[in-house]
Amino acid sequence: MKTTAAVLYQPRTPLKIEEVELGPVKDEDVLVRIVASGVCHSDLHVYHGQEGWPLPMVLGHEAAGVVEEVGATVRSVRPGDHVVINLAPFCGRCEDCASGKIYLCERKRGPAGHLYDGGTRLAKGGRRIYHYANCAAYANHAIIHESSAIPIAKHIPLEKACLVGCALAAGIGAAMNTAKVAPGQSVAVFGCGGVGLNVIQGTRLAGASPIIAIDLLESKLYKAREFGATETIDASQEDAVKRVMEITRNRGVDFAFEVIGRVETIQQAYQSIRASGKCVVVGVVADSSELSIVPRTLLQEKTIMGTRYGSTRAPRDFPLYLDLYMQGRLKIDELITRYAKLEDINEAFHALEHGEAIRTVLLME
Ligand code: APR
Ligand code: ZN
Repeated sequence: MKTTAAVLYQPRTPLKIEEVELGPVKDEDVLVRIVASGVCHSDLHVYHGQEGWPLPMVLGHEAAGVVEEVGATVRSVRPGDHVVINLAPFCGRCEDCASGKIYLCERKRGPAGHLYDGGTRLAKGGRRIYHYANCAAYANHAIIHESSAIPIAKHIPLEKACLVGCALAAGIGAAMNTAKVAPGQSVAVFGCGGVGLNVIQGTRLAGASPIIAIDLLESKLYKAREFGATETIDASQEDAVKRVMEITRNRGVDFAFEVIGRVETIQQAYQSIRASGKCVVVGVVADSSELSIVPRTLLQEKTIMGTRYGSTRAPRDFPLYLDLYMQGRLKIDELITRYAKLEDINEAFHALEHGEAIRTVLLME
């Protein structure tokens, strides 16, 4: 079949909106008509030439839509179902899946840019086009693995639900699943973009106090308060680590989350934790630069750890987050700066890069 997609041919060149070939739908595939697709910083990293991704590629990974067709062996969804895309397809049988860590499953992930079976389903004039993040959702249609299609109730608006697939999963998941923040624990969140605001609301749901938000932009810190931050630090004006120490009476925080993707801010987050505290790295450092810490500080039983997709178990967590949203206990609307069309993707990248947008949500035709 043919569909319209935004294709990245070369780093830092505008994505081209064009007709591409998509298919065929194989046994374990689900063909989704994409309704809404969020513009996330991870896409921007690839646009800027993040290592390891083959081009040309269709970006986009934070999406929701309607199932149009399913492969011969697919049982969990059928045409007409509304779904949110899970970036972490899983087999359900391996040791990681059996231990509940389905987000670590490698058996349904192909090499970078490929789908779970090691193949691709996108092409243009005989030339292969790759899929970003097991989907490729800046397009009117996408083919994903069955386990990537998480059915949701039909009364939930898809143009909001799309953000569950990355910003909420990565952010709320980092707070509630990876870190398991408990009531009364103190947290610092470095970076208040789409993902960071969700770390903040995740720690708020968990009952953390204080919740210290750090960013360079006043507009982001204002948002952070709306999402549950009790203190804010403008790192363009003051030394963030020093200020966290003052707020916590020199103890440091139980948890510091880095949600930017920079080595310096990972170091700052690590320096902000107390003895036995944990530094959770959510941000993606796009190049292969190295991190240095003073090993002696580890003797205070400090932990520095990563998180894979917020340790999200999508079939359980997506409906939960959407229930909380429908009950008014989780914010999604406030993350959306504007709606736009697929054709507006290049402006949306510009707005994200310049701090003018939390999330632009692209609505497909
Ligand atoms: N100190 C404090 N805040 C900073 C700094 C800094 N040195 N540099 C950037 N920021 C802030 C920006 O002002 C912005 O508000 O970090 C925030 C990053 O947010 P977004 O650009 O909206 O990115 P987001 O989509 O939230 O993703 C953040 O998580 O999933 C990963 O790949 C993603 O690495 C990215 C990170
Ligand atoms: Zn994302």
